[in-house]
Amino acid sequence: MGKTYKNYIEYVFMVLCICLVSGTVNGDDKHQTNQDVFGRDNAIHVAVVACGNDDRVLETLVNIKSMVIFTKKPIKFHIFTEDTLKDKFLQTLGSWPVTVQSKFSFQLHSVTYPEDGNQHQWKKLFKLCASQRLFLPHILSDIDSLLYVDTDILFISPVEDIWKFFSKFNSTQFSAMSPEHENRNSDWYSRFARHPYYGATGINSGVMLMNMTRLRQIKFKNDLKLLDPSWNEMLLPLYKKYRLNITWGDQDLLNIIFHYNPEMLFTFPCKWNYRPDHCMYMPICKSANQEGVKVLHGCRRAFQEGTKWPTFRAVYKAIEDYNFNGDISTIFAAVKTNLEALDKTHCTKNSYTILNTLKTMIQPEGNENLHGEL
Ligand SMILES: *[C@@H]1O[C@H](CO)[C@@H](O)[C@H](O)[C@H]1NC(C)=O
Ligand SMILES: *[C@@H]1O[C@H](CO)[C@@H](O)[C@H](O)[C@H]1NC(C)=O
Ligand SMILES: *[C@@H]1O[C@H](CO)[C@@H](O)[C@H](O)[C@H]1NC(C)=O
Repeated sequence: MGKTYKNYIEYVFMVLCICLVSGTVNGDDKHQTNQDVFGRDNAIHVAVVACGNDDRVLETLVNIKSMVIFTKKPIKFHIFTEDTLKDKFLQTLGSWPVTVQSKFSFQLHSVTYPEDGNQHQWKKLFKLCASQRLFLPHILSDIDSLLYVDTDILFISPVEDIWKFFSKFNSTQFSAMSPEHENRNSDWYSRFARHPYYGATGINSGVMLMNMTRLRQIKFKNDLKLLDPSWNEMLLPLYKKYRLNITWGDQDLLNIIFHYNPEMLFTFPCKWNYRPDHCMYMPICKSANQEGVKVLHGCRRAFQEGTKWPTFRAVYKAIEDYNFNGDISTIFAAVKTNLEALDKTHCTKNSYTILNTLKTMIQPEGNENLHGEL
């Protein structure tokens, strides 16, 4: 293997944030919905796909905990996981205080493909868990809308705030995501992608809103010689055409789809999907610098690798260690303590963007001096 090629591969694994994992197939569990007195579904539905080992389960539980801590609305979690990992979820979520449990419900699902006649091909072509999110609209067929999150996501804002973007969609939009990068000169897609992608820098699919009612009705434009295919009809041909050219699995497929259907995507600012790339050399996420980080995405294993990404790890630890004693100010204090103990790196210098968000949640009217000291 040539040195340049090897460097390229290393670079690739450094730059993007995708977790490829595998799982086992099994039947889907029945899910209930949270309905109000008028029979309307008023819960916020969140899906996460967690396969692999206990570390992945732990990361997912901290992710879920962060959403439960900051929300004021009921959340329904759809957790797709391997059968061997289900007990761990049941035990931990069941051990949380009753007052906390009253804020959410959850359903454990086995990783599965829709019974659309293609399931054998799907199983052969894809690593199981990696592509599961593409099938959620048809697996969760009675649910209107969904927030999908990768396991390495932490909310430090109420989940209902990101959910509000649904009401901003125009008539052609059914999904919302953030750009993969803010800077055209250093983003991965414009330099390396060997397939079409959305916009100038591609999109990152770690935090993704989907109006699945709309998705199920839409006919998609494409370069597959298919006339007006539905989402399901398009996925297999799309994968077959591009599989040798895609690097980041289903995120690349989403990029190709929205390249040909840009009017269907709403892009939200990077503060809703804040990654190490946004602060590693300099602070490039303007919305976070001005209004604070809302959602952290610990790709590059940033929540685990404390020496490389101490800021991300500091927030993760504070939420992991929080045992539901004390209110949000307890978490603020813990994050502050963790951050103050750190040496200055580019990301820690920027950590006021995290602390100020937490501060505004403790005092909703609070001072919005975002450029203050730690
Ligand atoms: C999703 O789209 C459908 C059809 O346009 C609409 O009725 C529904 O209210 C939308 N859901 C949300 C959460 O906006
Ligand atoms: C895959 O990449 C190669 C090399 O860049 C390119 O020639 C080919 O057209 C690409 N295939 C597709 C389906 O875009
Ligand atoms: C909805 O917004 C997108 C993105 O700005 C745009 O491309 C599309 O044309 C809009 N659709 C309508 C019907 O205005």
